[in-house]
Amino acid sequence: MKTRVTEMLGIRYPIVCGGMMRVGRAKLAAAVSNAGGLGIMTALSLPTPDEVIKEVELARSMTDQPIAVNLTILPTITPVPYEEYAKAIVASGVKIVETAGNNPQRVMPIFKEAGIKVIHKCTSIRHAKKAETLGCDIISIDGFECAGHVGEDDVPNMLLLPLAAEQLSVPFIASGALGNGRQLAAALALGAEGINMGTRFLATVECWVHENVKQAMVRGTELDTQLVFRRLRNSSRLFKNAITKELAALDSDPTKTFEDMKHLAAGSRSPAVFEKGELDAGVWSSSGVMGLIHDVPTCAELIERIVADATEIIRKRLPAMVAA
Ligand SMILES: Cc1cc2nc3c(=O)[nH]c(=O)nc-3n(C[C@H](O)[C@H](O)[C@H](O)COP(=O)(O)O)c2cc1C
Repeated sequence: MKTRVTEMLGIRYPIVCGGMMRVGRAKLAAAVSNAGGLGIMTALSLPTPDEVIKEVELARSMTDQPIAVNLTILPTITPVPYEEYAKAIVASGVKIVETAGNNPQRVMPIFKEAGIKVIHKCTSIRHAKKAETLGCDIISIDGFECAGHVGEDDVPNMLLLPLAAEQLSVPFIASGALGNGRQLAAALALGAEGINMGTRFLATVECWVHENVKQAMVRGTELDTQLVFRRLRNSSRLFKNAITKELAALDSDPTKTFEDMKHLAAGSRSPAVFEKGELDAGVWSSSGVMGLIHDVPTCAELIERIVADATEIIRKRLPAMVAA
């Protein structure tokens, strides 16, 4: 497939595996990149900037294809040395970075001086336009349906993508609840030049998370997500479980603050979920694409299937619908 995004990033297929805190490690990133997509490791999954360099080296030992690192800039309980992480990303030698969260202005000069292509993820057109003026090369448009931070505007991609097509000059990719070939074809039709997926890649062979989490993605439906932290204007779409129900209850109680909730959302709970497979032990981001996840393929099987199905639709189904 050929789009401005495949050309710019040097990848065979316009399919990106978005940064995933704790999940986005070298093996998954290398598998996605070897399969023709763009694999992304998540810098903040590593405890120190130096570990990012080692993780990229590990990925490099598994693939000679382009790989990227995600840097998510969000308010955190413990302050994060973002500039140091950005410098470590440059030192690692990757040529593509995905930024997300707040405005990436503070790290842009570090990446641009190193000739790095920056994909910035946003949930609104105004943020996308701002990112464009900051010099971001590609925008990842995360619709309201996405896993994780959905923003506060609640605009889904059926509307955000054509708005992006009207208002952006740089290429953009669609992100949020995507997982199959029909959706890739639709995203391209709406003006995107590729897709970004998170939840779908959780349920792949090369993803290191516990089999129980992968099977939860297979069993889950489009209804199994819960929005939390709305009142705190930090809305996040998570896999619905005992803890997100508790969080949602606290969120709807105006007497409660983040202090009352943070023990439930703490990252320190993640090992019980991802390593031990205890599905009610903590929270993790997921989207309603679970309704479209029916198996746990390798990244190569998944990407080939998505590309084959999209190609069939673009070549056959759609042309048959318009007069010659
Ligand atoms: C388990 C998980 C963890 C994630 N962590 C991050 C993160 O640390 N930084 C980030 O920018 N996006 C993160 N995301 C969002 C993804 O990169 C991607 O934008 C999102 O998953 C797209 O929606 P989808 O899951 O419906 O495909 C995460 C997603 C998941 C599923």
